[in-house]
Amino acid sequence: MANSPLNIVILAAGKGTRMYSRLPKVLHEIGGISMLERVINTAQSLHPDNITVVIGHGKELVREQIQADVCWVEQDQQLGTGHAVRMALPYLSDSGRTLILYGDVPLIDQQTLEELLSTAGKDVGLLTDVLDNPAGYGRIIRQHGNVVAIVEEKDASAEEKAICETNTGIFVLPNCQLTQWLNALQNNNSQQEYYLTDVIALARQDNIPVHPLQVRASWLAAGVNNKLQLAQLERILQQQQATALLQAGVTLRDPARFDLRGQLTHGQDVIIDINVILEGNVDLGDNVSIGANCVIKNATIGSGTIIHPNSHLENCNIGSDARVGPFARLRPQAQIGDAVHIGNFVEVKNSTIGYGSKANHLTYLGDATIGENSNIGAGTITCNYDGVNKYHTTIGNHVRIGSGNMLIAPITIGDRATTGAGSTLSRNCPPDKLTLSRSRQTTLSEWQRPEKNNEK
Ligand code: UD1
Ligand code: CA
Repeated sequence: MANSPLNIVILAAGKGTRMYSRLPKVLHEIGGISMLERVINTAQSLHPDNITVVIGHGKELVREQIQADVCWVEQDQQLGTGHAVRMALPYLSDSGRTLILYGDVPLIDQQTLEELLSTAGKDVGLLTDVLDNPAGYGRIIRQHGNVVAIVEEKDASAEEKAICETNTGIFVLPNCQLTQWLNALQNNNSQQEYYLTDVIALARQDNIPVHPLQVRASWLAAGVNNKLQLAQLERILQQQQATALLQAGVTLRDPARFDLRGQLTHGQDVIIDINVILEGNVDLGDNVSIGANCVIKNATIGSGTIIHPNSHLENCNIGSDARVGPFARLRPQAQIGDAVHIGNFVEVKNSTIGYGSKANHLTYLGDATIGENSNIGAGTITCNYDGVNKYHTTIGNHVRIGSGNMLIAPITIGDRATTGAGSTLSRNCPPDKLTLSRSRQTTLSEWQRPEKNNEK
């Protein structure tokens, strides 16, 4: 089997009416990745010869948003799952097998599909489930233990409705029979649709064995029709991810209050407090600690660094043994060096901060380069924008910027320079000197505080 062609068809043409959304159903995200992208990624993990995605409702948006090496086919009218697979026939090999997946069944995994392919062999494979409440699903009809047909809920007799063994919709089908089976499908059923499920009865007629495989957990094959089901699968995915991280040695203070919407790589002894959201690609070195309520997107954080609670980090790099927050905001291209301290209410954007430098309070650093072991006083602002253009601020090594400085860029502050508190600086400051700029303080000795006027 190993060398025979494998085609994968993903059905994704349905409207998703019950999502009540303008976004096509399969573009809704689970764990930060659209459902269809997840299914495509899983399909790719099987190294098929090709993947065909059948799209209809919202097809322009789906094609625009999903950049993947797949064949797109359009199904203009949704005439049933059998009709949808028929649209993909031109892309299927003459021999080998076709695996049918769904854009709204997002958590199906490689392991289950590999098991199904090996269970199916060169025959038909069918992924089944057993549900306490099978309402709405196609029921598996067996004779003498063999699967002989699938009956849809809407076409089922009372006796058939009592069957709890259901069709997940995921099939493996032999290509040499598939064309003729699909062409033989009739739509004389209660929904007047071409049911893919009818291929099971056709396989039986042609004496092709049908091998069922029961899915090991229902969520693996669960579909999403509404926001409730989307939220339920999101929780399940988060639980799975949290479990894997705990097992890999990451401390999650509460695995139920942790969300990973992307990929996390990590070293040893990482601690993540509650209500942390990680998005995109996040890399945490050894002994990194993330405080409660942090949102971190696409960031690399070096060993021993502590991110205090309520910090917001996006597209940034932080070195080792740094301290960030609480309430810090690191925006794109913030390059925070080793042993740097970024304190509360400090915003850093497109700036490089060298070893051991500190900006501990109420500061904005934008488009700046700061050397090593410099200190930025409380309330300092790099005035980087004149309303049209952005300008750079360069601060050397061992600089002390006084509190409440306005650094009007472009400006360079030399090594070991000190600036006076409350200065508004618009020209370069030489190294080793104190530079300040303040208006003269005056006291009006004649002045009297006004009294309340009581005349009526
Ligand atoms: C289908 C199965 C049912 C199974 C259930 C599992 C059939 C006839 N029935 O029923 O046995 O228990 O899934 O969830 O297959 N789609 C298209 N084009 C179409 C029709 C459907 O792309 O013309 C896509 C939909 O977008 C959806 C999927 O196929 O992702 C399933 O279609 P749906 O109509 O929801 O089938 P069910 O009635 O749920
Ligand atoms: Ca469905």
